[in-house]
Amino acid sequence: MKLVGERVILRYPKVEDAEILFKSITHPDVRSNLERPELRDLTLEEEIKWVKNQAGLRRKKKEINFVILEKNTKKIVGVCGHHISKRHNNWSEIGFWIAKPYWKKGYATDTLRLLLKYGFKDLGFNRIEARCLTNNKGSIRVQEKCGLKREGLLRERSNYLGKPHDEYINSILKSEWENANNRN
Ligand SMILES: CC(C)(COP(=O)(O)OP(=O)(O)OC[C@H]1O[C@@H](n2cnc3c(N)ncnc32)[C@H](O)[C@@H]1OP(=O)(O)O)[C@@H](O)C(=O)NCCC(=O)NCCS
Repeated sequence: MKLVGERVILRYPKVEDAEILFKSITHPDVRSNLERPELRDLTLEEEIKWVKNQAGLRRKKKEINFVILEKNTKKIVGVCGHHISKRHNNWSEIGFWIAKPYWKKGYATDTLRLLLKYGFKDLGFNRIEARCLTNNKGSIRVQEKCGLKREGLLRERSNYLGKPHDEYINSILKSEWENANNRN
């Protein structure tokens, strides 16, 4: 399974990816903006386990995660995915990160566009949401560019550098995505 964008390709994670994913996600500027609490003490073995769990999570329709590849070089530049609502399987929360050397090349924007198209057209979601720390200028901009609207502020819902921190919650509905994409 592959999703092909203008600048990136998304494919399912493989065990061979674990080492590079581990190195990239444990960079302080990447992990400080993510919500996986175990990231602080993450080990390579745990990252391998994360990759190995992916097929099961997909089967159970809990999470569908992808490795992000740079389209030209096929190098791994990040991870993204849909975390599907447990109660109502018609919406998901998306998450994404790009390795620091690849920031500001448009990769997160291209990735989000692919995730939204896949979520609305193939997975049949009616709503896709995303959260981000209120100081995460990059994520705020990427989400805004992809048509997500701010719904609110979640007070101290997350942590940044060990301290409670506010988050924004943003979302896009299928109807809004269809209008913006001419129902393609
Ligand atoms: C946030 C993140 C995903 C952005 O990825 P990226 O590939 O650099 O984003 P893009 O290149 O698609 O940038 C899209 C826009 O955001 C802007 N942007 C990106 N990073 C920015 C930053 N740190 N500060 C201000 N603007 C930023 C870009 O300039 C661009 O704006 P423009 O089109 O108006 O010029 C990346 O910095 C990252 O992975 N950070 C750590 C993990 C994380 O925060 N994940 C998201 C959790 S909610």
